[in-house]
Amino acid sequence: MPKPRDFTKGLYKIRTTANKVPMDQDLFKIITDGMPGTSMPPWAVLPDKDRWNLVAYIKTFAPDAFKEAPKKLDLPKDVSSSETSLKRGKEMFEAIECHKCHGTEGRADGPSRPELKDEWGFPVAPANLTKRWTFRGGASRTDIATRLANGVLGTPMPAFLDSVEKPEDIWHLTNYIVSLGPERPRYATLITVSATKDALPDDPNAEFWKKATASAIPLMGQVIVDPRNFNPVIDLVTIRAAYNDTEVAFHLTWDDPSETKGDGKQTFPDAISLQFPPQITASTERPYFLMGDASEAVYLLRWQQGKGVGEASANGPAKIAPLQGGEVSGKVVYTNGQYRLVMKRPRIAKGEGRPTFQPAVFTPVAIQAWDGGAGESGTRMSLTSWYYLRLEEPQSNRRFVIPPVVAILTLAAMFLVVRAANRAR
Ligand code: HEC
Repeated sequence: MPKPRDFTKGLYKIRTTANKVPMDQDLFKIITDGMPGTSMPPWAVLPDKDRWNLVAYIKTFAPDAFKEAPKKLDLPKDVSSSETSLKRGKEMFEAIECHKCHGTEGRADGPSRPELKDEWGFPVAPANLTKRWTFRGGASRTDIATRLANGVLGTPMPAFLDSVEKPEDIWHLTNYIVSLGPERPRYATLITVSATKDALPDDPNAEFWKKATASAIPLMGQVIVDPRNFNPVIDLVTIRAAYNDTEVAFHLTWDDPSETKGDGKQTFPDAISLQFPPQITASTERPYFLMGDASEAVYLLRWQQGKGVGEASANGPAKIAPLQGGEVSGKVVYTNGQYRLVMKRPRIAKGEGRPTFQPAVFTPVAIQAWDGGAGESGTRMSLTSWYYLRLEEPQSNRRFVIPPVVAILTLAAMFLVVRAANRAR
């Protein structure tokens, strides 16, 4: 999902033309750049000449579609982004009902989502407008304005140049979409758990969490053991974390187009888990990243829709045993296609099979996530390999003492150097 294109219809999604016929340059660009967010890779490694030959060859699959000449699309004059433009863009987004498919905040969770089908008869998901790097036709302003003007042919994504009030609304909409998210994600390599003396709030929307450092972590479909997941829905989880003397708390944010408890047949409960080794040691040996194996278990701090936060021990994805008696708590909120979750636990392990979190120690961590609404459960999940998190050292008075001491020592050293130089002279 999406399937490879059937060329015999001669329908092309990504065009810079006002009619249905793509320019040769459009096909050339797709072969060169690939299609982000799909399995179509870029073929820039092929010599130019070969790519142009491929363009000519692909056209022979649907000769009738290319009888008419392509008609270059004229985009309205560019309007740069400003507060007024963004306001107008947002108004248009609501007035033209983009949200019916793309959702109120653009996270692909609109009410029409389940019914959307493409010309080839397959379900097609609306784009998540907060993740521009997954746009099939590219993430630049011109790319986006072109998609809005002439639509994504063969899909329910309509052309808007004729339905906006004024042609420049295309640019207001484009500016608005650009404001919804970064062009590219900035993935973290290390997750920092900040130290605090305050209580750790349960509420995922608390001011405390808005100020915490956010680490974006990419997830992949699980394709090692059956049943596999080739179309993972959850491809990014943002982690914030903090600890105090007694507790550690993890704040997770991820997009999921529907809040699902599951019927147990086609849909399952949405879920997420953080995985740690059961003991954190200085050794570089870690359990098998896919929920451990027969010889080495992993510890899971997890949440499931309907069940809440819990702990488990796993010896592989098919051997998960809940851990009883732990003091875990947490709270979840779901709004406009996004989950925000806090999971809390004692910092020092209470009971077997649970790690203790110590400051300044590199602690292995991995994530697994399930979109139950898309039929994900068991090994049909999104996951990461091992990452590291590190509890920041508690703030001490040292940070107020050290800088002045360094400054005094530096001055003294300079004084000695100057005096030695004067003597020598
Ligand atoms: C009827 C449903 C529907 C409506 C209404 C709709 N879209 Fe879409 N949109 C889609 C679908 C489906 C796709 C994904 C097409 C694909 O991936 O092949 C999409 C894709 C997109 C893309 C990504 C294009 C790319 O290069 O991948 C953007 C940007 C976008 N829509 C913006 C908008 C805006 C802005 C509006 C309102 C002016 C809007 N859409 C209205 C269904 C819709």
